[in-house]
Amino acid sequence: MPEIDIANVSKYISGCVVLNGWIHRIRRQGKKMAFVILRDGTGYIQVGLFGSILTDNNELLNQEAYIRVMGKVKVDARAPGGYEVECEELTIRGKSVNDWENSAPIDANQQLAFDNRHLYLRGENTGAIFRIRTFLIRTFREFYENHQYTEITPPSMVNNACEGGSTLFKLNYFGEDGYLTQSSQLYLESVVPAFGRVFCIHPSFRAERSRTRRHLSEYTHIEMESHNMSLHKLIDHLKKLFDFIFHKIDNNPAIKELVLKLNAKYRPLFEDDFIILPYYKAIELCSELQLQFIDSDVVDDKGRPYQYGDDLTDKVERQICEHLGKPIFITQFPSHMKAFYMEPLETERGIETNSCDLLFPGVGEVVGGSMRNSDYNDLMEKINKEGIPVENYKWYLDLRKYGAGHTGGYGIGTERILLYILGGDASEYSVKDCCLYPRYMGRISP
Ligand code: 4AD
Repeated sequence: MPEIDIANVSKYISGCVVLNGWIHRIRRQGKKMAFVILRDGTGYIQVGLFGSILTDNNELLNQEAYIRVMGKVKVDARAPGGYEVECEELTIRGKSVNDWENSAPIDANQQLAFDNRHLYLRGENTGAIFRIRTFLIRTFREFYENHQYTEITPPSMVNNACEGGSTLFKLNYFGEDGYLTQSSQLYLESVVPAFGRVFCIHPSFRAERSRTRRHLSEYTHIEMESHNMSLHKLIDHLKKLFDFIFHKIDNNPAIKELVLKLNAKYRPLFEDDFIILPYYKAIELCSELQLQFIDSDVVDDKGRPYQYGDDLTDKVERQICEHLGKPIFITQFPSHMKAFYMEPLETERGIETNSCDLLFPGVGEVVGGSMRNSDYNDLMEKINKEGIPVENYKWYLDLRKYGAGHTGGYGIGTERILLYILGGDASEYSVKDCCLYPRYMGRISP
């Protein structure tokens, strides 16, 4: 008797098969008839239980019990998915307590749903989100492999700060100060001279105190680094990357169906959709739109018109994106607003950075990228201001001594891309729904 996955039942019409899975739902009709929706991770199928098979096992047929079913596959237009297995033999292999509805109620608030995340992950919508996530990560990897990037696996425990001290998680590393990495960029840069083009898909950690829909304390960071780059090439590469990702979703009917089920208004973004807006023009736009700069460091700040040098807050970035209705690369931020490693650019307005932040409508910043500063002394000076011993960056500075390769790269927040796919601000979702066990201020469990 073939033991098969639910996904393959259509190949066994009128044949007898064995299936193993969990009782996703059970509907009883009188004493002698019940219909189970069985779930095995590859799909869902209706199983009919009749007569003594039902009465002999009835007390143990609880939601989420793990069962083994032997029976005949039939085409049945009334069954969800179009097939039904009529059960001839049933074994309860993993009992389930009869209180699932109390442990994982359908109408749970966010707190309860995340407290019981290990149970809610079995739900259909959550399952669909993770299928899309897996597809997304696989597709990113495919793009890099198509373009001869080497995947590396950097450390998570480090003694440097890539993105500034304010969002560092500190560790006691055998009596020394250590940190959870904020970004693997510096390590990617270190292997560019060895492999030319590199990427990683690795956790990054940020001690973010904000409880927004976009911020996590741990997220999956997709980062790439390449030699012989320019900002123009970097932007072009990113446009092609997203074009590839969104075409792959469009060309995969199963994934496209899941996406549309979760977000009927889903809009793919293709190469021609992207626009470039230098920071100083973004500030001009803020004035035109009469957006106010509110200083988060000032208690009860009433706000004032935007001027050059002001931070584009999350909210304002999203307002700009909403207004233009397109994904936008904001380039050339003033140097003082950006990380130490970004290549400086002299302009009539002062020193700016050769960098780009990519904003997606309804989400805000999804990518941060730049050309890397290759000036040893300038870097040393900037690192000195970071408050972490400059000796900890000796190896990084060495990269400038031995053939800095016109290197550039970026980091993408996986959960933010997934949030865009799920509908961003217009949806019920946040980045917390886009990772398995979200970590954010106030939550480190389960
Ligand atoms: O702009 P960020 O801070 O850039 C870096 O970390 C660079 N070192 C990356 C590089 O060049 N290799 O972060 C990059 C992206 C952001 O655009 C955002 O999508 C995501 O990482 N991100 C977060 N996602 C969720 N929660 C947070 N707290 C995030 N912080 C950044």
